[in-house]
Amino acid sequence: EKGEFEHFMLKEIHEQPEAIRKTLAGRIKDGRVDFPDLEFDNVFKNTGKIIIAACGTSYHAGMVGRLVIEKLARIPVEIDLASEFRYREVLWNPNDLVIVISQSGETSDTLAALREARHNGIKVLAITNVPGSTIAQEAERVIYTHAGPEIAIASTKAYSAQLLIMYLLALYLASLRDSYNPVELEGLANELLGVDAMVESVLQEQQHIKELAEKYHKVQSIFFLGRGLDYPVAMEGALKLKETSYVHAEAYATGELLHGPLALIEQGVPVLTLISQDKLVDKSMSNIKEIKARGAVVLAICKENLQEHCQECDEKILLPRINPMLAPIVAVVPLQIFAYYMALFRGNDVDKPRNLVKSVMGD
Ligand code: F6R
Repeated sequence: EKGEFEHFMLKEIHEQPEAIRKTLAGRIKDGRVDFPDLEFDNVFKNTGKIIIAACGTSYHAGMVGRLVIEKLARIPVEIDLASEFRYREVLWNPNDLVIVISQSGETSDTLAALREARHNGIKVLAITNVPGSTIAQEAERVIYTHAGPEIAIASTKAYSAQLLIMYLLALYLASLRDSYNPVELEGLANELLGVDAMVESVLQEQQHIKELAEKYHKVQSIFFLGRGLDYPVAMEGALKLKETSYVHAEAYATGELLHGPLALIEQGVPVLTLISQDKLVDKSMSNIKEIKARGAVVLAICKENLQEHCQECDEKILLPRINPMLAPIVAVVPLQIFAYYMALFRGNDVDKPRNLVKSVMGD
């Protein structure tokens, strides 16, 4: 039941700290990641390449996963939309590992990717929120997100839980393969134990974000920009906005803006930018200056310690100081709240957006 909340989406946004705690529970001990009950070593030790396949929001979690697994575990990772993976000629190597990510465990394209891999003798690890789902049953190994049932069509807490699994997996693989400084791995594991509190603090921004949504709810279109780990977050923010508010939203890697879309920037065009990657902020701000000069209205989701770089931005939502590698976990939260209130101010059915279903099956 919805309890004190008007909609399931808002309730589930607020359940994220709890979903994160449950997903982490028992999986970090003394700074090391473990997945009790699962014998992973033989699956992972010789992995040559990882291929991630997923759809929609789960695909965006996979995009973060790719960046952190490559960085920490130093295993090459490809990522595919499951809906495309089905139709390409994958050049398999027996040591490949396929990871499918699916909240429902029933998405037909993701299931087809799993079956295709297994048909070729490739091991499949599934990350899903639903025990007993078809994907859970058919994969070789399963890691469950413990987000609890997600009722709203727009995925929020299941996404956060998927992100957490991506980090846990990257840390796990890194220590298994001795690919990264163990002291830093331990530090990251301990930081993960504190992200629930950081998400809690971002939820306190709700009123401010609601006011921004009220101010901007009549816009026709918004660009979402991000570089590095901010890019998948921009994609997820744009998807959330599209599906709940029906406002056209397009995500771009910040650097790509100059390769075409800049032509669309004119007086008053709203652009939402993610600024959470300390090392990339100067580069991104020089792009932002270009669009500001053409009249764009810039809304920044900006890490507190980087705000002096965002002085030219028209609106700012601040994120707590967090290790840039973990920033996607907190940066998505204001975007979810923004999408929720944009939908509300536009009079939409937030929990059941038109044309959409919770799991896309049977194709
Ligand atoms: C967006 C959303 C969808 C799903 C996608 C995959 O909010 O919910 O994009 O993420 O349909 O669903 P699962 O993860 O169940 O395979």
